[in-house]
Amino acid sequence: MTTTETSAKTPFENFLSEHGEEAWSATITTLLRSIHDVDKNAAQIWFYFFPLSLFEAFAHADDPELLAQQLLLRGNYPLKDQIDTSHTFLYGHRYWPEVKSAVANHATSFNPAEARSLSDQILSVAQEVARKSKVDPSLVVGTTAVAFMTMQQAGLGVFQAPGKMLLDKKHARKSPDQVLRERAKDDSQGLLGFLKTIDKKWTVTYDENDEAAKYRMNNIQDLAWGAANDQSRNWREIDPRRSEGPIPVECRSASCGTCWVGVLGGVEKLSDVAAREGKKIKEFGYIDTAEPKPFIRLACQAQTHGAVSIVIPPWNGVFGKYLRSLKQTPAEGVESNAPVVNKQDPLASNDHCN
Ligand code: FES
Repeated sequence: MTTTETSAKTPFENFLSEHGEEAWSATITTLLRSIHDVDKNAAQIWFYFFPLSLFEAFAHADDPELLAQQLLLRGNYPLKDQIDTSHTFLYGHRYWPEVKSAVANHATSFNPAEARSLSDQILSVAQEVARKSKVDPSLVVGTTAVAFMTMQQAGLGVFQAPGKMLLDKKHARKSPDQVLRERAKDDSQGLLGFLKTIDKKWTVTYDENDEAAKYRMNNIQDLAWGAANDQSRNWREIDPRRSEGPIPVECRSASCGTCWVGVLGGVEKLSDVAAREGKKIKEFGYIDTAEPKPFIRLACQAQTHGAVSIVIPPWNGVFGKYLRSLKQTPAEGVESNAPVVNKQDPLASNDHCN
């Protein structure tokens, strides 16, 4: 249960605000079996890109601008500013206008006395969208979950405007199986490719909806190093964090958190997470897992031995310790002997520069 203010909200927004990070995590786990393979990783990556706990920290902050500075947030982190664009990497984005409209209708007709579980409501809205759009429900479940979370963070008001589908016709026409085949495909290394070792070349796709959004890199190079060779665009103009190539980088040593990416396809072709990457990515707040090949990685640490498809989040920061300290506050009834972070200076004890 969250402590978000409930006044001036609709009954459905109040229902959503009763669901914190743990409830959402359980909901996504339940929904995963109903999400098509093409969107299984993508849907989970989206929820890592727009964490509810960080949104709630800002909702309760006395001075959000100061908090953003203290957490070293850079780029476009508020979900409310990217309602129609945050999820273009999900296959289900193709049905966003229908999903957005159906979720808005669901919210306005919501009756708290008849409320079912969050996952049941998401599945029910997804089935309705699928029926109207004549597609399999599995293709819209992930995007419907994204829409529910978007409403929780941005409110019902932003759902009144019609949604936009932002793909060109060529990409919108691709079938889910075609997308999965493209993700699985490795570069041919030529007739004598089996003799090659470090001179193998791999393609990294960083936007599946843009034919030109690819770069080539050497075998066993890290993803960020390979990206730095891509000088095909004025990257700084597109995003000031992109100092060299499409992936934002700073330290190149797992110290700053600038280079995090989601891995849509080919996660098994990346090197295992080494101890430093595993430790730092938790401190940054991006993902908390002991899996050797998670689908959230630091591009300056993940080396590839095959073609991969990644998605680059629009922001970065260092907030893991801060959010953990909020969970441990006595005010929420949880005893803590380890005051990790000074709330006035959330980074006071972070070793993010080490
Ligand atoms: S560039 Fe700093 S963590 Fe990768």
